[in-house]
Amino acid sequence: MDMKKLAAGNWKMNGTRAALAEVDGLGSDRVEVLICPPATLIAPLADRGSRVLVGGQDCDARAEGAHTGDIAAAQLLDAGASHVILGHSERRADHGETDAQVAAKAVAAHQAGLVTIICVGETEAQRDAGETLAVIAAQLAGSVPDCATATNTVVAYEPVWAIGTGRTADASQIAEVHGAMRQTLAARFADADGMRLLYGGSVKAGNAAEIFAIPNVDGALVGGASLKAADFSPIIAAL
Ligand code: G3H
Repeated sequence: MDMKKLAAGNWKMNGTRAALAEVDGLGSDRVEVLICPPATLIAPLADRGSRVLVGGQDCDARAEGAHTGDIAAAQLLDAGASHVILGHSERRADHGETDAQVAAKAVAAHQAGLVTIICVGETEAQRDAGETLAVIAAQLAGSVPDCATATNTVVAYEPVWAIGTGRTADASQIAEVHGAMRQTLAARFADADGMRLLYGGSVKAGNAAEIFAIPNVDGALVGGASLKAADFSPIIAAL
């Protein structure tokens, strides 16, 4: 399968309309570039006519109704999103999201026509306890729904201890987890070889090339370094 690599930026709860100018020079014919801004900026970014894909940072599993503050997958699509991040560790921690909830959201997103970026990752305590591969396997089993395909699903490995900390997993740690994820997914999905596996956690211009050279790393989910074009452009170029 022809797999285009993916550079995804997660702006988290950062940015107002003034920040959209950062996106204007981004884009690539070689790889996919995605920006997931706060929900308030999805439509303004999509309407801006830039070359980047636009995504949400979460969606609800329900289609519509009396659910104040929540956003349905179809509403993200209507706003101009093509992708949605699901199960980010910050949502699992801040909102108590479970694997089952993430899987239900992914089903809703796929039904609406969105590509999901499903996040998994171990805490530092879990790594220290030697539980990393078991934790990742359990999260994949619980969070990736049976309807996942290489076309509608991307998986992001983000060690919780590497997010926003300046610490990155080293090459052997990333290779081990990404290899294990590929095997785990291959046991369930016939097209797992074509599923893109992203690494996330303090990716920046200075470490991107080394990370992208690791087997089974098909792109990155970038937080802080996606906020400014000057920081994100060299990461895209390294992919
Ligand atoms: O979604 C992105 C990740 O949480 C990584 O964030 O690049 O700021 O460490 P970071």
